[in-house]
Amino acid sequence: MALLPILRYPDPRLHTVAKPVAKVDDSIRRLIDDMAETMYEAPGIGLAATQVDVHKRVVVIDVSEDHSELLVLVNPTIIDRQGAQVCEEGCLSVPGVYEKVERAEAVTVRALDRDGKSFELEAEGLLAICIQHEIDHLDGKVFIEYLSQLKLNRIKTKLAKKARITA
Ligand code: NI
Repeated sequence: MALLPILRYPDPRLHTVAKPVAKVDDSIRRLIDDMAETMYEAPGIGLAATQVDVHKRVVVIDVSEDHSELLVLVNPTIIDRQGAQVCEEGCLSVPGVYEKVERAEAVTVRALDRDGKSFELEAEGLLAICIQHEIDHLDGKVFIEYLSQLKLNRIKTKLAKKARITA
C-alpha cells in the first residue's frame, strides 16, 4: 500500500468529473487500499479518488472512531434523499476551513463494493453527510462552493496567504 498526495483547493483538477469504473479489478482494489491508507493517515473520515488525482468514481469512508467500518463505494448513486440537516464540514483538500453546509438528512446510495458486487445502503446523520460530500467530489464539486461568492472569496484569500507562508 502507498500514501497518495492529496490535491489542495483551488487546484483545478478538483473540478474534474470522474468517470464510472468499467470493471472492479485488482488495479481498482489497489487504488481502494491506497485511498483508505491515505484517508486514515491524514486523518480524515472520507476520501474521493478525485482528491488523489484519479478521476474514477471511487470513494472510501470510515466514520467510526477506531477505523473499523471502512465503506467502499464504487460508482455510487444516491437513489433517495430525505429531510435536511446543516452541519459544519471540513475537507482534506481544504485544510483548516470548516463551514456549515445544508444536505439531506438521510440518503439511500447504490454502489458496487470492492468485489464489484452491487449493494444499497441507507445512511443518516454524519454518514449521510459524508456520502454526499464525497460524491460531490466525483462530480468536481468542493463543499465550500455551496457558500456565497463573498464567503468563498474570503476563503480563497485566506488559503492563498497560508500557501505563501508555508511555501
Ligand atoms: Ni472533501
